[in-house]
Amino acid sequence: MHPKITWKLIKLKEVDSTNDYAKRLILEEGALEGTVVVAESQSWGKGRRGRIWHSPKGNLYCSLILRCPYETELIGQLSFVASLAVLDTVKSFADELKLFCKWPNDVITSELKKIAGILIEVISVKDHHFAVLGIGVNIGNYPLESDLNWPATSLRAHNIKITPDAFLDLELESFQKYFFNWQTKGFSVIREEWLHNVYGLGQAITVKLPNRDYTGIFKTIDEHGALWLEDQKGNLNRIISGEVFY
Ligand code: BTN
Repeated sequence: MHPKITWKLIKLKEVDSTNDYAKRLILEEGALEGTVVVAESQSWGKGRRGRIWHSPKGNLYCSLILRCPYETELIGQLSFVASLAVLDTVKSFADELKLFCKWPNDVITSELKKIAGILIEVISVKDHHFAVLGIGVNIGNYPLESDLNWPATSLRAHNIKITPDAFLDLELESFQKYFFNWQTKGFSVIREEWLHNVYGLGQAITVKLPNRDYTGIFKTIDEHGALWLEDQKGNLNRIISGEVFY
């Protein structure tokens, strides 16, 4: 049985990073599954690969604490769960804006601009593993292109108005639904839906890794969330982490 998570919100005006705050809560106070740290702004918002996540007031910055009584290698799958929850949330109040998933854990618009990002961190206390699932959604504003490796946009830039608090309520509801599906039916259902909503499937893409780039046709993701790329000779490369460029 997987009971519904009861969310417990901790609302802050400003924090260094909601992920770091959540990790401190786990270590210092043994925070429980379902704790959600949300802040109006972050002074040290973190993106993937050590990047800064620009975090002025007006956007959603939140971190969900989840207990992980399963193998830690499965935790990466939660980023696919969370991406679908972001898509579902936006669809629930702004169906006109079609969003896409971008491997492994971004959400982009059809103009290929980033609107949300996800950063998962794992923290272990004795034998208990916790996932801190950080979600940032550009609602009211977005950083300038010169500050980024990838152009960004916001919901407001698409004439969609919602407050970060209202977005969070819907997001937690959606996440609960996808998380339950993942727990009960496994990754295959998440994978299927994610593949239906990913940008660039069947197209030529480049995946940049720290020391080399791979270009080829984006074939699929496997049951572990790894990306399969077919090169010109028909060889398949399995990539477990990297950055996709279209
Ligand atoms: C990325 O796309 O690089 C991931 C961005 C994750 C940003 C969110 S905002 C809430 C949480 N707290 C952080 O410091 N980062 C995540």
